[in-house]
Amino acid sequence: GAAGGVALALPAERLVSAVVGTPPSVKPFTRALPIPPVLSPVHSDRSTDYYELSVRPGVAEILPGVPTEVITYNGSFPGPTIRARRGRSVKVAVTNRLQTPSAVHLHGGIVPQDSDGHPLDVIQPGNSRIYHYPNDQRAATLWYHDHAHHLEAEQIYKGLCGLYLVEDPAEAPTLPRGQFDIPLMFRDVALDDHGQLLWAMFDAQRRSTVLVNGVPQPVLRVRRRKYRLRLVNTSNERMFAFRLGNGAEFVQVATDGGLLARPVRRTEISLWPAERVEVVVDFAKARGGSQITLVNAQGTALENTEVMRFEVVDGIRKDMPDTDDSSVPQKLSVLPAVGAPVMTTRKVVLSFDFKNLVFLINGKPYDPHRTDFTIKRGSTEIWEVTNADPDPIPHSLHVHVVQFRVLDRDGRSVEPWEAFPKDTVSIASGETVRLLIRFDAPYTGVFPFHCHFVDHSSVAMMAQMRIVA
Ligand code: C2O
Ligand code: CU
Repeated sequence: GAAGGVALALPAERLVSAVVGTPPSVKPFTRALPIPPVLSPVHSDRSTDYYELSVRPGVAEILPGVPTEVITYNGSFPGPTIRARRGRSVKVAVTNRLQTPSAVHLHGGIVPQDSDGHPLDVIQPGNSRIYHYPNDQRAATLWYHDHAHHLEAEQIYKGLCGLYLVEDPAEAPTLPRGQFDIPLMFRDVALDDHGQLLWAMFDAQRRSTVLVNGVPQPVLRVRRRKYRLRLVNTSNERMFAFRLGNGAEFVQVATDGGLLARPVRRTEISLWPAERVEVVVDFAKARGGSQITLVNAQGTALENTEVMRFEVVDGIRKDMPDTDDSSVPQKLSVLPAVGAPVMTTRKVVLSFDFKNLVFLINGKPYDPHRTDFTIKRGSTEIWEVTNADPDPIPHSLHVHVVQFRVLDRDGRSVEPWEAFPKDTVSIASGETVRLLIRFDAPYTGVFPFHCHFVDHSSVAMMAQMRIVA
C-alpha cells in the first residue's frame, strides 16, 4: 500500500530490505560516459532559434547489448541538450507521439504561463504545440521534463527529461568550457532480469541502479587539468551525497539558477531531486592512469554507490591539449540586490495524510482548478516552508517562474552555496526553511509550486499561485 510506499522512499528502509532489483551484470567502469546529443535548431532568425522535439517511445541501451524500452525526446535517453543563449529566445515545437498526454516544463525557466507546462495544459496524443522560452535570465543549468497531471513521475522516470543550458559568454569566461564542460545527469532505476524498467509509484527501494547520462557506472577519460561538471539530479526520489574517492575537493561555482558570487570548496555535495550544482574539479595533480571514483556517500551496500569513474589519461590524445588556460575567478558574479521590502509572509506546510494516503500542501491535495496563493507581480514575499512529517520522510519545494533566496533553516542561516539563486530547496523532516522570493518575472497567470520528489507531486503534493498585475 501507499503507506508502506512512503517508508520505501527512506534510505534506512533500503538497508534492511531483502527485495532489490537484480543488479546489472555489467563490468563497471568500462563504458565511456555518454554525453546527451546537443540539439540543432531547425531554423534560426535574428531573435530566435527554433527546435523540434517529438515525445515518443524509444529504446535505450542501459545495459550493454540489451534493448530497454523507454520513452524519449527525439529517441534519446536522456533527451537531447538544448543550448540557449541569454537574451536570444527559443521556440520548441513539441509533438506528442505517446498514447498519454504530455506537458513540457522548463525547470528553472522564467517563462510565460502558456509555455510553463501547467499539469492541465497538456499536449494530447497526436497533437503538437510550441513552447516559447525568452531566456531573459542569468546563465544556468536548467532542465526540461514532463509535467502532465498525475503522470509526471512515471514519464520522467521512463526518460522524459533533458538539459537546457542558458549560456552567457560574458559570465566567468575563464571557467573550463567546450569538451571540458561535462553534464552529469543522475537518476536511479529498477531493472528486471531482462533489463527492462520496472515502474511503480513509491518504489524507491527497488530503484537500486544509479545511471549517469543513461548508463550505470560509466568512465570518463580526463586530462590532467580542470573540468567543469554540471551535476543534475533527475531522480524521482533519490538524494545523493557525492564525494571523490581520492578525497579531492570540488570547487562549486554555480547552483540551480547559475553562478554563485564566489566559488566554494566542498568535499561532499548533496544533491536532492531537481537540484543542480556546477563544480570545477582539477585533475592536474592526479597521476596519469589513475582512477578517481565518484561515490554516492548516501547510497547503501546494495546499490552501485560508486556511480562513475574518472580515468586520468596522460599525453595521449592530440585533441585534448595538455595546457590548461582555464581558471576559477575569486569573484564569479554579482548577485542582484535583495530588493523591495517584504509585504507578505506565507506558510507552506508539507505533510503526508496517513489516513487517506495522500501527500498534502497546507492540508490540501492538489486541485489544478484552485488558486492557493494570489501574488502581486513585482512583490517580494517570505515563505516559511515546513516539513511536518515525522523522521525520515524528506520533501522539497520547487517554485515555478522564480529563482529565490534561501534565508535560513530552523533559524540558522544557510551556507552561501545554498543561499541563492535557487528554485528547489530540500526540507528534512521537522525542518522549517524560509525563502525570500521576488516575483519579478514579467508574466502573470497560474504557476505551480510543489515537492520535487515527483512520486509525491504526482499524488497531490502540489499547489499553485496566481500572479496578478
Ligand atoms: Cu521540475 Cu514543476 O517541476
Ligand atoms: Cu515530498
